[in-house]
Amino acid sequence: MCGIIGYVGPGPATPQILSGLQRLDYRGYDSAGLVVLDHGRIRVEKMPGKLEHLLDHLKKMPEMNGCVGLGHTRWATHGGPTQRNAHPHLSHRASVAVVHNGIIENHETLRRRLRARGYRFASETDTEVIAHLIEDLYRGNPLEAVRRAVNLLEGSFAIGVLFRDHPDVLIGARLNSPLLVGLGDGANYLASDAPAVLPFTRRVAYLEERELAEIRPGGVRVIDAEGRERPVRPIQIKWDFASAAKEGYPHFMLKEVFEQPRALRDTIRGRTNRQDLHFPELDIPARRLKAARRLVIVACGTAAHAGMVAKYAFEELARIPTEVCFASEFRYGDPVIGRDTLAIAVTQSGETMDTLCAIREAKARGALTLAVCNVVGATIPRACDGVVYTHAGPEIGVASTKAYTTQIAVLELLAVRLARLRGTLSRAEARPLLRAMEGVPLAVQEALECDGHVKRLARRYSRCRNFMYIGRRYNFPNAYEGALKLKELSYIHAEGYGGGEMKHGPLALVDDTFPTVAVAVRGRAYDKILSNMKEIEARGGILIAIANPRDARVKALARHVIEVPETAEMVSPMVTAVPLQLLAYHIAVALGRDVDKPRNLAKAVTVE
Ligand code: M6R
Repeated sequence: MCGIIGYVGPGPATPQILSGLQRLDYRGYDSAGLVVLDHGRIRVEKMPGKLEHLLDHLKKMPEMNGCVGLGHTRWATHGGPTQRNAHPHLSHRASVAVVHNGIIENHETLRRRLRARGYRFASETDTEVIAHLIEDLYRGNPLEAVRRAVNLLEGSFAIGVLFRDHPDVLIGARLNSPLLVGLGDGANYLASDAPAVLPFTRRVAYLEERELAEIRPGGVRVIDAEGRERPVRPIQIKWDFASAAKEGYPHFMLKEVFEQPRALRDTIRGRTNRQDLHFPELDIPARRLKAARRLVIVACGTAAHAGMVAKYAFEELARIPTEVCFASEFRYGDPVIGRDTLAIAVTQSGETMDTLCAIREAKARGALTLAVCNVVGATIPRACDGVVYTHAGPEIGVASTKAYTTQIAVLELLAVRLARLRGTLSRAEARPLLRAMEGVPLAVQEALECDGHVKRLARRYSRCRNFMYIGRRYNFPNAYEGALKLKELSYIHAEGYGGGEMKHGPLALVDDTFPTVAVAVRGRAYDKILSNMKEIEARGGILIAIANPRDARVKALARHVIEVPETAEMVSPMVTAVPLQLLAYHIAVALGRDVDKPRNLAKAVTVE
């Protein structure tokens, strides 16, 4: 989720690029940089951290003059948030500069190939591979060099490319990441999204998958991956800046809920090839992982719920005893941790103080420590022996959504990896699980179709004062998660329970004004959750069920059914999370709450 802006025209590029970058910081703030072709020389300036650091730095540097350039705000995925990993990246002979948003999945193979041809790498990024590759393939025609290079790339990319020998050209290309061309008056632009170019032009043309654009001051040419000419189809942007940043969604939270298929794809793809699993960034040796006899997961809030889902997978597949602890309580007990313990900190921000203190405590007591984190180079991954990143991209809404589902994906992939290492799961047994995991982005995409139905239900029940959420097994933690989402967004009291616990107390709450949301998808405890729903229905409770399509048994019990695609039980919480998130969102909107910034809460909780 990086931000890209490019300019080619008659005027100076630097002010336009910096102005564009100022409107892209919500796409990443790990570093900022720009490149300008200044009197025939490629000049790059970049700084780690927020854009302000770059702006301060530029004040001390000679002015960057030139009429063609590119800018970038980075959300790190490969390589920490350092200066040398900041974009733009230069090719070996400094003839090509590249900015990139996305993940190049085959970067290691390409890197090896380029190294063998004498290319030297200055960063740890996947992006640098693209710059070298384009230089290697360049024979005088910039568009053709980029076309041949991107045909070798796997994964997702939106790139901007500048050539030292072509002072009036920018090239853009995309696959699975958005990229648009801004059509100005005698000047043209390239951008990852519309806010970057809105002050300069409202006429934009979105590139289609695998299209490339050659952008000159006087015009734009678009071709496809085979080099065939494609039409440029401009549209007029009518939104203001704020809604453009949210890509037309009224809130960041809703945008992030809808981003989940992409976030999950980026997190899962490249790690599983149906045969096995790869965690390139995880440098803990396999023998140390294999030696773990106990697993302790420390986390807070939503991240802890992801850990609770994963507990089922770690125990079922890897047969390793797993405990999930709220990080805020962990170090105030006297946790039994030893050298045979693998402690996993799960955290979106990587900065949550409770989680940091807990994982430090586990490490001090001899545990091997691992972070599952969304922010590259954050404090918690740095404090751990190893890290696996979720590739959710920046999460701006305080309510955690895409971070949650991608955390479950990474943890469950780790469970399969551990199971394979420990010999509790054969390759043949792992294969259908990995296939199920690969199917999750599509299932989540389909689950999002329930949005209209959920919105209507939300309007109907937004005045209720209390809600109950129930689930079983893998979907039991989603009962907690659904309740947490509703509480923090709408300020309505809600509780999550394992369905079987209802008869031990909470059933007393049920009457004909009391809604219970039951996650009732098919799985090992399907009959059990149906019995629990029956208990509620018999007492006149209002049942809203999340179920698989055409489930007559659920339909017979529930007043409302929200359908989501059927998947393997292990991966189903990522799918059933979608209606839970949407229900909380729409109830909060119906009540006029501040969805992206609920009262009393902060995105990263850096105090104990
Ligand atoms: O950044 P972290 O994942 O460590 O944050 C943990 C919790 O503070 C966070 O998940 C919180 O519960 C969310 N606001 C819930 O939506």
